[in-house]
This record gives sequence, C-alpha cells and structure tokens, in this order.
Amino acid sequence: MDTFEEINIRGFVDEYIDPTLDLFDEIEKLKKQKNAVILAHYYQDGDIQDIADYIGDSLGLSQEAAKTDADIIVFAGVHFMAETAKILSPSKKVLLPDIKAGCSLADSCPPHLFKKFKENYPDHLVITYVNCTAELKALSDIVCTSSNAVQIVESLPKDQKIIFGPDRNLGRYVAEKTGRDLVLWNGACMVHEIFSREKITKLKERYPNAKLLAHPECEEPILEIADYIGSTTGILKYATNHDDKEFIVATEAGILHQMQKDNPDKVFIPAPPNNTCACNDCPHMKRNTLEKLYLCLKNESPEITVPADIIARAVKPIERMLEISAQLGL
Ligand code: 13P
Ligand code: SF4
Repeated sequence: MDTFEEINIRGFVDEYIDPTLDLFDEIEKLKKQKNAVILAHYYQDGDIQDIADYIGDSLGLSQEAAKTDADIIVFAGVHFMAETAKILSPSKKVLLPDIKAGCSLADSCPPHLFKKFKENYPDHLVITYVNCTAELKALSDIVCTSSNAVQIVESLPKDQKIIFGPDRNLGRYVAEKTGRDLVLWNGACMVHEIFSREKITKLKERYPNAKLLAHPECEEPILEIADYIGSTTGILKYATNHDDKEFIVATEAGILHQMQKDNPDKVFIPAPPNNTCACNDCPHMKRNTLEKLYLCLKNESPEITVPADIIARAVKPIERMLEISAQLGL
C-alpha cells in the first residue's frame, strides 16, 4: 500500500505553512538573508521558474552552478542536477526542494551494471549524458548534455571508439548526426518516450503551418518528422527566433511556460501522448512545489551530499565538458 506521501507526491509537505504568507516575498527575503541563489530547470512549475534567479537547460545550469558566488544553491530540478552542482561547487550548500525528485533515465543505468558493460570495451572512451548519477559520472571520461553532445563527439578524433550512455535515443541521434559508430547503453526517459507519431501527424493536419520541435530524448519516429531537434534552450530559442506562429512541442510541458511568456502572440501545443492516461509532465520534476522550495530554503534541508572520492572522480568529466563547451562558445 502506498504511503500518504507517495500518493500526494506534489502536495505533501510535513510542516505547517501559514496560509497568509506570501511565499514569493518570503523566498525573496530568505534568499537575501542567506546569500542563496535559485537555479531552475525549464521543466519546473511556472511559479518556480518566475522566482528563480536563473532558468536554463542542463548545460546552462551546470555553467551557472560552477560560477555562482552564493553560499547556498537551491536547485529546482532533479537529483542528478543538484548533484552536478554539488560536484562543481563542493564547498557550497546545495538544496533540493524534494529529495525524492529523481529521474527515470538516471535510474535506467545502475552504476554497477554500467561498470561491467564498460569492461567489455576497454579501448573505448566513455561519454555520459548528464542525466545520470554522480557515481556514473565518476566512471566516465566526458559528460555531455543535449545541447553539446554532437559537438563533444565531433571534437574527438574520428577513429576514437566511444561508449555513449545512458540515453539510447540521444545516442542514436548523435551517432546519426556525427556518422560515428557509438556503443549505446539501452536507457531512456519515461517522458520523452510517450509521444505518438500518429497523433502528431493528425494534429499537423489541423495545424498545417505548425512546426514540430522535439527534444533528442524522443524516439526515432518522432525525431524523423521534427522540424527542429534540440535541448530545451534550443527549442525555446527556435520558437523565439523564427517567424512561424504555431509550434507542436515534443518535450516536457514545463517549457511551454517560458515559450508562451517570451512569445505571447504565438501558439504552443504540447505533442499528444500515445496513451490518453499519459501526460507530458515529468513526475520527478513536478515533485517540487513553491511550498517545498520555501521550506527547503527556510530549513536548509534537504541537502545534497556526494562522497568526496566520487566528487574527485566525477568532477573531471564534467569540467572536460565545460572546457570543450567554452572553447566552442556554447
Ligand atoms: P535539457 O534541458 O538539457 O534539454 O534536458 C532535458 C531533460 O530531460 C532534463 O531532465
Ligand atoms: Fe529524467 Fe526524463 Fe524527467 Fe528529464 S524528463 S528528469 S530525463 S525522467
């Protein structure tokens, strides 16, 4: 039987909050008092995005976490993102509003199994997508995100043998774009695998001018019909910089908040899922709420910790990614 908390993953907070409090004001006050910064991913609720000091994709968030001079980083995102911030800024306190905000993709690659997999390819370099645990990063040579995966692979010699994990969809896309033969780990994201090509095609009949924007974590049949494929930042920029007025968006629905805010005259339609019971919200990302964000800043908990030996090994592939990205102006 599920506990009350499991059933009420979004609403549940285990501390009374005075309902007359203006949480936006309270969070602002706490931020100043504690020299804290709020970093939020585009998949967070709109109100969390609105109160954040920085909103971005995984690459932007890592770059921001590496350079901030705040004492406390509140990471409004999921566990692997907060871990990455802790690895890059180990002396800072890193908080995650809901400690159970995980990631199905990170879970699809247990480090002990990946270690065995990697042993089969001793002459291969290991590139891991940032959506993985700190332990997995510690087993890697270079980390990448969806906005630099293609360029990172291209920055390596043509004859370099490569293992790519954990996302098979991003891996397949990168292999196709670069013409490289990558050895792929068979992992995937539960949100990006729900979209229906058939329903998108039908939707396109109703909106013949709509452009399909897709995240590379989507499956091949969706990417085949996409007008643009990119990270959340890439998708947002495409919609803003192009004159088209209608867009079908094949990624987590939180990104629509910023797309609509930046482009009030344009129409954004979430791509339909293949099952009417499914939805485009990531259940992990959406565990965080404004209430939990307020409590975590007030109580300075839940805090993210990463063992020192893992930090020492995981920081190298992340820094390598940041160096290559800086050289390429990404
Ligand atoms: P980006 O924001 O880097 O495109 O990542 C998408 C994602 O799935 C994060 O969980
Ligand atoms: Fe993980 Fe997918 Fe959620 Fe991103 S959208 S946090 S990859 S489960």
